Amino acid sequence: MTLSDHLATANPALAQLLLSVADACVEIAGVVRRGGAEHSAAVSVNVQGEVQKGLDVMANDILIRVAARSPALVAMGSEEMDEIIPVRDAGPDGGYFLLFDPLDGSSNIDVNISVGTIFSILPAPAADPARPATEADLMQPGRNQVAAGYVVYGPQVTLVLTTGDGVAGFTLDPETLVWNRSAERMTVPARTGEYAINASNHRHWAAPVRTYVDELLAGKDGPRGRNFNMRWVGSMVADLHRILTRGGVFLYPWDRREPDRAGRLRLMYEANPMALIIAQAGGQAFDGTTDILDTPVTGLHQRVAVMIGSSEEVDHLKALHAAG
Ligand code: AHG
Ligand code: MN
Ligand code: MN
Repeated sequence: MTLSDHLATANPALAQLLLSVADACVEIAGVVRRGGAEHSAAVSVNVQGEVQKGLDVMANDILIRVAARSPALVAMGSEEMDEIIPVRDAGPDGGYFLLFDPLDGSSNIDVNISVGTIFSILPAPAADPARPATEADLMQPGRNQVAAGYVVYGPQVTLVLTTGDGVAGFTLDPETLVWNRSAERMTVPARTGEYAINASNHRHWAAPVRTYVDELLAGKDGPRGRNFNMRWVGSMVADLHRILTRGGVFLYPWDRREPDRAGRLRLMYEANPMALIIAQAGGQAFDGTTDILDTPVTGLHQRVAVMIGSSEEVDHLKALHAAG
């Protein structure tokens, strides 16, 4: 079954937008595979004060160009763009907003380790009279998402997608460039023995996260009474894809390096879409206070702490945070 067969029962306007995002990702996959010095060249600094690499900008341009063809698309928001990208006025029928991290895992570009694209689709409210979208229109909680997905550019090019009724996986055929469904209903096992966190920040973490990781490190002799394994790719897409495939929990918590920042990852482009996918697969996502799908939105480029994956582990993290 192809991606387009899979979407045959979805809302046609939404299906068409998703197919155009998937087309953009096929093009990005080609650019990723080609390699070249221009990929890793630092070209500028984005709105978040981070260095943009050539591949960040190429992926961003491809998504904007290809997705803009979708008749139901009202506006876009990108991790790499300061302002929203209006496409057409929201009329009486409304439409959709597309938000994306065009290239996740930029630090892995130079070393040929998996990178990805993450996207989120929100409803665009009907406007009467028709008017251009504003940034405030896009600032909706994750709970409002009508679809979310990601693509991993790895040994295989994989698309994972939810339209709010479970999570399906697709693999890009490198010859025909067709997305074939490879997993009909992906689920995150509730129990896991694997976690992912950048442990070099241990000394900067807040007490509940430090306690949690210390318990895991203590293994069989500690309060958890069993051993845990650790993996950290450094591309959220690749780490979450592993978790969706065989279970696990991923953390990028608040830390003391930048105390005024809620976390490193971005709510609208990374945390919200991943939270919807993981929730649809039976897992959970927590920001230290609330379910990420309910995290109040204060800005398009807002950061958030992320603890996401297997339900039992996220429940345990919630309990440790509640205890202070
Ligand atoms: P991006 O490349 O879009 O800025 O995101 C990178 C993120 C995420 O993919 C990854 O989990 C995390 O940054 C890695 O952070 P560290 O370098 O601190 O490990
Ligand atoms: Mn990212
Ligand atoms: Mn990025």
